[in-house]
Amino acid sequence: MNSILLRGGRVIDPASARDGQYDLLVRDSEIAAVERAGTRMNLDDASLVDASGCWIVPGLIDPHVHLRDPGFPEKETILTGLRAAAAGGFTTVAAMANTSPVNDRPAITRYMLERAEEAHCTRLAPVSAVTHGLGGIEPVDFASMVDAGARLFSDDGIPIDDAGVLSRALDETMRLGYAVALHEEDRALSCGGAVNAGAVATHLGVSGYAHSAEPHRVRRDLAIAIGSGAAVHVAHVSTAESLELIRAARQRGAQVTCEVTPHHFTLDESAALTWGPNAKMNPPLRNRDDVEALHAAIRDGTFDMIATDHAPHDPKSKRMEQLGAFFGPGRQAGHLERDAAELFAHAANGVVGLETSLGLALGLVHRSLIEPARLVEMMSLNPAALLRLEAGTLAVGAVADITVIDPNLEWTVAPEKFLSKSRNTPFAGMRLKGRAVLTIVAGEIVFDGRKA
Ligand code: DOR
Repeated sequence: MNSILLRGGRVIDPASARDGQYDLLVRDSEIAAVERAGTRMNLDDASLVDASGCWIVPGLIDPHVHLRDPGFPEKETILTGLRAAAAGGFTTVAAMANTSPVNDRPAITRYMLERAEEAHCTRLAPVSAVTHGLGGIEPVDFASMVDAGARLFSDDGIPIDDAGVLSRALDETMRLGYAVALHEEDRALSCGGAVNAGAVATHLGVSGYAHSAEPHRVRRDLAIAIGSGAAVHVAHVSTAESLELIRAARQRGAQVTCEVTPHHFTLDESAALTWGPNAKMNPPLRNRDDVEALHAAIRDGTFDMIATDHAPHDPKSKRMEQLGAFFGPGRQAGHLERDAAELFAHAANGVVGLETSLGLALGLVHRSLIEPARLVEMMSLNPAALLRLEAGTLAVGAVADITVIDPNLEWTVAPEKFLSKSRNTPFAGMRLKGRAVLTIVAGEIVFDGRKA
């Protein structure tokens, strides 16, 4: 029998309304006991983990990652992505469908689950496409995707432009009891813009991505969601106006959840001056007022969860060979020549996030924006509910998916040490406080940071 006794830590488990000093016993794949610290537990052959100074929380869940498998092994594979996830403290990640081939049929979903099984690491929750090939026209066979193991539906990376297609998809997913995650972008307004439309875009001489592109589409989709009663999830919210629309829709009874990314709540558009394509993503980093609005929504509970939108890209896709010379730590790029501005616009969107998310999120706690229990809600309990997983709790009898966090461990982001295959991050060199020291999936240690 495999037993682990986590002793001396602070157990934070909002699902059981528990926050205090407890010892926690894992036996095989389950949580066997949670007892007040110091209670004499029957140890038998348990291996002892000294968790003093640490938090013991239900395993972290990321509802939005791109693992690029099948299709883009130069960026990431399921194996490397899941190892990066484990190092970041995640016990489950929801892998988006914009792979090649797209995850729009059961065989691809099964392929993803098989690779994850072989990895013997963090769990993978497959996200099914809403439409075939993310083409926005022909719906997938929703029921067969659920049967194959899909936990969420999304065309993420691309918005669903046809309102009728979305509306019919919502009827189906509601019948099955699953949510649709929405990438909210009106492409007639975003126009493939490189960074947020405004001062930074003008300074760099690159195309701007209109602020209105997001809320304009959020308004339409929430109206559809209210009409249908279906559950929708707004991915990577980046503007104050979208948040106002979400709050108003909830007042009218909409079943709407939403997520915020660490890059959107940490950085503003000016990061693109230093990091160039490594601070380019969709939706883009916004202005200071929007960042403030995101913080307010984290504080007041509008945001249900934190999602990385982990989007690994190789330097070539990021056009770093040509553009790297203009950007870098401690520097600010000036106006780019036309050719360079074009290259910037064509650089792939996205940043890696699995190995920096927890450290950045803990910054919210250290700055007293939120309490630790709220962090656990946003990074475990609420994503579990969205994905309909039996997870997000440390109750006795629950599956032993556990993250042990040292909230005070200071470290420096070093992309060359990432377990992810990609290094496209605007956080290189940043000092962070707090990280996962142990990640346990089904009672087995899949990441041990104490060895690092
Ligand atoms: O920045 C992004 N990158 N946003 C998306 O919606 C897609 C993602 C990707 O797949 O690279």
